[in-house]
Amino acid sequence: MSYSDAVSNGLSIQEQVGFRHMPPWPADPDYRHFAHENVLTQGEIDAVVDWVNFGAPFGDPNLEPDPPVFPPGGSLLDTIDFQVAIEPYTLQSNVDEYRWFVISNPFPSTIYVNAIEVFPGLDSVVHHADISYDNTGASMANDLLDPLPGFNGSTGPPTYSFYMNAWQPGGNVVRYPPQWGIAVPPGTDFVIEIHYGPGAQGQIDSTVMNLEFVTGGNVRPVNVGWLLGSGNMTDGPLVVPANTVRTFHQEYTVPSNRSFVSICPHMHHVGVSYKVWYEHAGDSVPLIDIPMWDFHWQRYYTFQQVQPIPAGAVIKSIGVYDNTMNNPDQPNNPPQNIYWGSTTADEMFLCYFIWANYQAGDENIVLDSTLIVSAPSTLAPVVEWSAYPNPAQEMVSVVVPDAMRGPVDIQLLDATGRVVRSTQVNVFSQEPVTVSLEGLPGGIYHLRLQAAGKRVTGKVVKR
Ligand code: HEM
Repeated sequence: MSYSDAVSNGLSIQEQVGFRHMPPWPADPDYRHFAHENVLTQGEIDAVVDWVNFGAPFGDPNLEPDPPVFPPGGSLLDTIDFQVAIEPYTLQSNVDEYRWFVISNPFPSTIYVNAIEVFPGLDSVVHHADISYDNTGASMANDLLDPLPGFNGSTGPPTYSFYMNAWQPGGNVVRYPPQWGIAVPPGTDFVIEIHYGPGAQGQIDSTVMNLEFVTGGNVRPVNVGWLLGSGNMTDGPLVVPANTVRTFHQEYTVPSNRSFVSICPHMHHVGVSYKVWYEHAGDSVPLIDIPMWDFHWQRYYTFQQVQPIPAGAVIKSIGVYDNTMNNPDQPNNPPQNIYWGSTTADEMFLCYFIWANYQAGDENIVLDSTLIVSAPSTLAPVVEWSAYPNPAQEMVSVVVPDAMRGPVDIQLLDATGRVVRSTQVNVFSQEPVTVSLEGLPGGIYHLRLQAAGKRVTGKVVKR
């Protein structure tokens, strides 16, 4: 929150950032970029490391940002249509606890969830909260067997029917495009799985999840669920004998044209990597690569733009499992044979997706709000401009807004703010101006247009 906070945690920040443990982002950004990705460039990492090495100087006070302002009450939703609140739970131990809380869905007809936000009660203890809905009643039955609020793995396997969302510290509101909503049928139960960190015995947690529903008609139902599972393995079953490393593959043929919003691979502790792509008409399109799987950092990764996948395309995957002492996360000493199962000492090979049926134009829906361009508030009114294609490969075309006709300065800045391309052009029409990206490394860039008193900036992604 402040300079003094940063200084007093300087060495820890330097270590976490320098070793790329923080910010957590196990997906390989060179394989596929995602919306709002927590990825630092090497230049940014060096800046943090150098800052600590040089005694953490204050810097230019004129550049100090204002502290963030939080909305009253904390919620960023327009309306809270339903609050899913766990029964206050007293942590039972000083070691990590995993607990599943079950809340019945009171709505008599299907609801369509457009946005989800989570407020942990014990915000320094809750490591993650995974949200699903269960249409089998099994989670509720487990909860009833356990005298405390919720239940843990020892009273029966958690039943996730439909894994809706995963929240971690730093997680923001998850919002689907307008009129898109996750369909939650009546007669179901919401399940919030919480991982509590160690050292909090006796503290009371009361985490809540706020839901905002789609309003009005023309709802685009959004589906959630895994499309790659045990039945999709081409070389299953998933058996990893003790002291072996095994590789498995999956395939799923997409039955109809679909528009994908996000992807969430899932393994347990013996899994070490998971890569997913699709193939269609001779093309291969990367979806996600997690080269160093980490059970503690699981999430839904949202595509930067809606990702259509046509009927007949085959989604393929490769997963590697290391059941030897070389894998510090494998749960047994000495290693034991590992089979598919729902406790964390078993294994899984699942990939969840969130998708809707395809409609023309879906591919133009931008899901990364930082790619939606607006003018800085201190300058002239917001003017519309567009850059395409975005993400781009060798060049990007920019249509300069009418209000900025005449001599225009166009600059491309890298993530550290360094100007990597600069040009001045006279613009008299809607004819696009092209900016070359040739020779630049893949990543996120800022494209800045300036003309008499007006400035607009937007992000451009180089693949
Ligand atoms: C540049 C950005 C970030 C920096 C500098 C940073 C720094 C740190 C530091 C110094 C720690 C303490 C580690 C320790 O005490 O051993 C930490 C822990 C943690 N951070 Fe970050 N962090 C960043 C981004 C994030 C983000 C984006 C998230 C969530 C998505 C996150 C979630 C956590 C969690 C959950 C822990 C506790 C981990 C544990 O106890 O196992 N951090 N971070």
